[in-house]
Amino acid sequence: MIRMVDLPALHKPIQSELDLAADHVLGHQHFVGGPEVQVFEEAFAAWVGSRYCVTVNSGTAALLLGLMALDLPNGAKVATVANTFLATVEAIIWAGYDVAWVDIDPDTGLMDPSSLEEVLRREHVAAVLPVHLYGAAAPMPAIVEIAHRHGAQVVVDACQAHGTRVRTPAGLMPAVWGTRWAAYSFYPTKNLGALGDGGAILTDDKEIADRVRLLRHHGQRVRNESTRPGFTERLDTLQAAWLLAKLPHLATWNGRRRELAAIYDGILPAALRLRNDLHGESVFHLYTIRLPHRDVVRELLAAQGVQADVYYPHPAYSLLPGSRPRLPATQRLMDQVLSLPIHPALADDDVRRIALEVVEAAT
Ligand SMILES: Cc1ncc(COP(=O)(O)O)c(C=O)c1O
Repeated sequence: MIRMVDLPALHKPIQSELDLAADHVLGHQHFVGGPEVQVFEEAFAAWVGSRYCVTVNSGTAALLLGLMALDLPNGAKVATVANTFLATVEAIIWAGYDVAWVDIDPDTGLMDPSSLEEVLRREHVAAVLPVHLYGAAAPMPAIVEIAHRHGAQVVVDACQAHGTRVRTPAGLMPAVWGTRWAAYSFYPTKNLGALGDGGAILTDDKEIADRVRLLRHHGQRVRNESTRPGFTERLDTLQAAWLLAKLPHLATWNGRRRELAAIYDGILPAALRLRNDLHGESVFHLYTIRLPHRDVVRELLAAQGVQADVYYPHPAYSLLPGSRPRLPATQRLMDQVLSLPIHPALADDDVRRIALEVVEAAT
């Protein structure tokens, strides 16, 4: 069976580095707020190309605390897409804001700037939250220009985008470009995954970094002195240590994902492919295609021993009972998408075989 992810194959070659990292933490036993947390934060901020990294214990927590740190009034509108993981929208709701839905570009699956323009003309939106879905860059220069012209700030869900670069007039830039913050997830299957849950806010804005630091730890900078209600949303020292051990490998793993994506691109017909590099450089967290008979192809692949999965089976507005916004491109694409295996431990021949099976099943 060729699986979507193969964590044992990823971790086996670096087992001794992971063991060493855990040994260090077991040595000093500072399981919360230990030295590895800050070392990882500095290393990941530098790796991404951002001034501050504030770790938290999931991507969902990063989105929630990041949105709360904007300090928008209750009920403020945040514009986002429905073609995303539910957490993008859960965070908006739990932060006390309302969602304004924006349609996607069917060629990329990402936020469509012309739909954003329409939404922002129609209603007052305080913040725009695009998603670098599948590891592909959302069209940030257009989104930032439209948002700023309408007085909205921009933040971004980069939970699938460790190393994604955004195309801008000044060249390729980090995924946080143009935003007040980018939220990352270190869920184990992510391009950079912890051995458990984890997340982070990356920002150039000191005020945002300070607020998220307060929110993740009961509003406390100094023990027992709370300045605002917060949470227990810190990243464990052990997870920081493991992430620190994995970080030096991330560029190689992302490079391998891009090589495998190029093999898929070379075999699959253009009609089935999404335009992953249209607005930047993707890190291919997922390799997603679109097919009119998606479920049939998925079953044929399963019969050939190839796992393929749907990201995502339901638009995120299905979270909100009674909410069925008119998003024709989203609805159409979400019935067609299928993600194929792509991870650093896959062989070229595996990917060739999968691509050929898809071509045969789809024709
Ligand atoms: C696009 C997107 N947003 C948010 C999240 C939430 O991250 P986590 O699972 O770490 O809470 C994920 C992770 O699955 C994601 O893929």
